[in-house]
Amino acid sequence: MKQVRIGIIGFGTVGTGTIKILLNQRELIKKRTGIDLILKKVADKDIEKPREITLSKEILTTDAMELIKNPEIDIVVELIGGIHPAKDFIIEAFRNGKHVVTANKALLAEEGNDIFLEARQKGVKLGFEASVGGGIPIIKVMREGLVANKMLAIYGIINGTTNYIFTKMTDEKIDFQDALRQAQDLGYAEADPTLDIEGIDSAHKLTILASLAYGIPLSFNKVYCEGITKITAQDIAFAGEFGYKIKLLAITKILDGEIELRVHPTMIPDNYLISKVDGVFNAIYVEGDSVGPTLYYGRGAGSMPTGSAVVADIVDIAKGSETLPFDFSEKYNIKPVQEIESRYYFRFTALDSPGVLSKISGVFGRHNISIASVIQKGRSKAGAVPLVILTHKARENDVLDAVDKIDKLPVVAGKSVFIRVEGEEY
Ligand code: NDP
Ligand code: HSE
Repeated sequence: MKQVRIGIIGFGTVGTGTIKILLNQRELIKKRTGIDLILKKVADKDIEKPREITLSKEILTTDAMELIKNPEIDIVVELIGGIHPAKDFIIEAFRNGKHVVTANKALLAEEGNDIFLEARQKGVKLGFEASVGGGIPIIKVMREGLVANKMLAIYGIINGTTNYIFTKMTDEKIDFQDALRQAQDLGYAEADPTLDIEGIDSAHKLTILASLAYGIPLSFNKVYCEGITKITAQDIAFAGEFGYKIKLLAITKILDGEIELRVHPTMIPDNYLISKVDGVFNAIYVEGDSVGPTLYYGRGAGSMPTGSAVVADIVDIAKGSETLPFDFSEKYNIKPVQEIESRYYFRFTALDSPGVLSKISGVFGRHNISIASVIQKGRSKAGAVPLVILTHKARENDVLDAVDKIDKLPVVAGKSVFIRVEGEEY
């Protein structure tokens, strides 16, 4: 029977899930593939710390380079995260003739062009299924299942932590910080959770999906990125009154030969399938020209779901399947976010006095923004109240100008909030 020897760097959340699956499913994988996957070495900075699974002393090492250079290892699995030394480990593994599997979307989005090139030049394979969508095999879908399609659009909930936070804030009225702490305790959040809540993790994943979709170089620095920190429980409740849910969406679509690449909180009609995706679950809507709309759903983070994706890559490489994507050399313009068109939700903090709405709608009118509905809640003789407006389609540039002017009106107290709205108008 063919034997393939694995070395894993990083015995944390994903490392633990991967190791459990490799050990527990060894017989199943042997039966299904005729390949025996042998866990040869595991490197971590701390090999004394108790983990969910106990490994023998001979398997554990603190020296990742020793593992990378070990001639008895065929596939190196990088699960430490971050840019350095992860990149150095991967490049060194290629130079030592090893195939690599990684879950490190930050590294691929920011340095992937170099890494893919190096893998090609060395004639080795690089698996990265776990880098997007946790346990959902979305990379394989994009690379294989939908290979016959020109991609038209992708809308994804691709960060488990923020989706978990929104769900807890909506369903259990838990506050933001407590919900984030729970996501960290469950192993969903990045080591630096700013990456999750500021939308950067979703932008990393969108970068990878867009390159697979359109064959463009990884273009992380062209993704417009907005996180969820400005969204309040009040916005979630208002969105509900209009029949919408708020989700952190990663969006890419191709329109008139230009690509949109953006991550931001988005209101979507609450009868859409994707708005029912809650907790740590992710969903990725992919529209191809032949297949039409498709949707992929599953756990987007966590030890075992992500381990499942890592092991799928290991098996693919062990079987000799191609894992590198197509050539990322297509050239397209990326549309600046200021040029997009969308519908918008606005929450103004306005004085509760006559004529306020007409002042705001006057600014809207002068910026070609047309109002679809208005809600004003509460009464306050002295203070300010939220005034919420939904618009028809408008240009982002006009919206930015209008908000700037409205925020300077004497009847407006505090900075206004706006959220882009996707989906059909009711
Ligand atoms: P963890 O922080 O839980 O695990 C990383 C482990 O690697 C830690 O034990 C860390 O030690 C160790 N480590 C860090 N640097 C080194 C080094 N130089 N040499 C040896 N060991 C090192 O992270 P996760 O398992 O959550 O994430 C790993 C990767 O998977 C990241 O790229 C992440 O973005 C990605 N990912 C994570 C998912 C999840 O649900 N958690 C899902 C999908 C992808 P120490 O803690 O002491 O620094
Ligand atoms: N922090 C990431 C998330 C892990 O919450 O989605 C999975 O990539």
